[in-house]
Amino acid sequence: MKKILYFFIILLSIATQAQSFMINPYGRDNAVLLNGKWNAIIDLYGRGENKKFYQNRKPESKTDFVEYAFDSGLRLNVPGDFNSQIPELKYYEGNVWYQRYFTVEKNEEGRQFIYFGAVNYKAAVWLNGIEVGRHEGGFTPFQFEVTDIVKNGENDLVVLVNNDRQVDGIPAMNFDWWNYGGITRDAFYIETPNTYISDYKIQLKKDCKDVISGYVQLDGTTTPNEIEILIPELNIYKKIAANEKGIATFEIKAKPQLWLPETPKMYDVKIINNENVIQDKLGFRTIETKGSNILLNGKPIFLKGINFHEEIPQYLGRACSDADAAMILSEVKALGCNFARTAHYPQNERLLRMAEEMGIMIWEEIPIWQGIEFTNPIILKKAETMLQEMIYRDKNRSNIIIWSIANETKPTAARDSILTKLVSFTRSLDDTRLVGAAFDNCYFNEEASTFRLQDKVTNVIDVVGINKYIGWYSPFPIEPENIKWEVAEGKPVIISEFGSEALYGQHGEADVASSWSEEYQENNYKMNIRMFKNIPNLIGISPWILFDFRSPNRYHPRNQNGWNRKGLISDKGQRKKAWYVMKQFYKEK
Ligand code: GCU
Repeated sequence: MKKILYFFIILLSIATQAQSFMINPYGRDNAVLLNGKWNAIIDLYGRGENKKFYQNRKPESKTDFVEYAFDSGLRLNVPGDFNSQIPELKYYEGNVWYQRYFTVEKNEEGRQFIYFGAVNYKAAVWLNGIEVGRHEGGFTPFQFEVTDIVKNGENDLVVLVNNDRQVDGIPAMNFDWWNYGGITRDAFYIETPNTYISDYKIQLKKDCKDVISGYVQLDGTTTPNEIEILIPELNIYKKIAANEKGIATFEIKAKPQLWLPETPKMYDVKIINNENVIQDKLGFRTIETKGSNILLNGKPIFLKGINFHEEIPQYLGRACSDADAAMILSEVKALGCNFARTAHYPQNERLLRMAEEMGIMIWEEIPIWQGIEFTNPIILKKAETMLQEMIYRDKNRSNIIIWSIANETKPTAARDSILTKLVSFTRSLDDTRLVGAAFDNCYFNEEASTFRLQDKVTNVIDVVGINKYIGWYSPFPIEPENIKWEVAEGKPVIISEFGSEALYGQHGEADVASSWSEEYQENNYKMNIRMFKNIPNLIGISPWILFDFRSPNRYHPRNQNGWNRKGLISDKGQRKKAWYVMKQFYKEK
């Protein structure tokens, strides 16, 4: 009985905390960025709530003793992780308090919100000393309405960030990337009319190339409304009716030029409700599977991919700006890719929008990475919240073709049950895209010289990703050409990770595994490519990884020194020999 009570208490707490947010802050008027230098206090022993830091009090009399202050102390960039901003915080996991003032001319007839693109891993937010809400999850947006709290003039915003790893977290206690904590993405102050456009989906109707369909959702109304959708280049000026719940659905006959990697056609779109105008740029395409093929606009495609974390070589921290996104995506294009896996978490909306304009298809995933506490009932709720926030935010990005629910999780009854539920949940949110997952549990059958995979979850997903480091963590069992693959027959398979490490500029024997030589990595890529030719249902490849990236899990002092060296490009932006192997392979593909 106690356990059930505990479960419902937790569920209630998560439910009250998880708030939906308005989509596309970038296309809204009156969305003011709160980026810049914020005051900060490092709260190693977590005493700040007890000491009421959120009141940001100043001494009010000679005897009034206040033993903290935000101004005149540490200053941190927002957006940005705190670990990379001062050397003392490199390995820091714990509480950091952020504070800034902002001044507004409050429209008393409107509504006001504070919106965060992401805070890793937990956030608690106060405005003018009043708690406005909390959020868990390091890579998706959240917002709090502050209409009754924000003042005309100066306001005092305080955010408590905590990046402690948690046993019941997603990701959990161990993962192979740096645990960058902080307000890692844009922060906004947004003012809207009383009734405003909070959400919309405008894409091709499933399996149709000549019908644009979807919905527009208003917030704050209890009466019918008129909404207009304008896509001038398609000569669309469509008025639609929203009911008393603020929802308007539509189908519009149209023949848009279909989005393709080679010609990523985007349309300027406006959505208008009274004085509320939202602008967006949208692509239109169809995506489906047919047997072991993925069809883009009805034609089979081969995904020439690459993985990347949200990091750039030139900056030892969480990437967060358009310039960072351009750095990553220009190297994706230079390699000859039409596809990328944004490992291992929903990445920056800025990057996803830029990738769409550059013709890069995306596999996007939530950070269910290896050891997750699947036996804990709260995990399903947390995973569903993260999936919901990711899909809610990115459902209009035509370049996103795959939602992935997990990376390298071990088959158990609890894990199978939760992942199967997450597949259904993903489809309930968006039945227009493919659902995938990445598996590292395929095994080599000696006498059949064949790689196989026994995993129930492969039966319920559309696309099977295989992560296999043959020739790195274990040697090739036999010559690559003689290896056969019988994995997820009849379904599309993507090699979602493969590769090996090399320290740029370190040279040595191509057959010495622990040499960390460029020649070893180069030869390993060549051997894997020779093997890929034997995978009958292979429709995509995504090497791990574009750039060397930081991870506390990489202990070799000389060859790694806290860096995972599987990058095709070094942490200083230099291309290793293996980069040229991949470039050539994609060129010939
Ligand atoms: C795993 C995992 C990656 C990790 C990589 C590696 O497959 O998905 O996050 O960095 O292998 O071992 O380098």
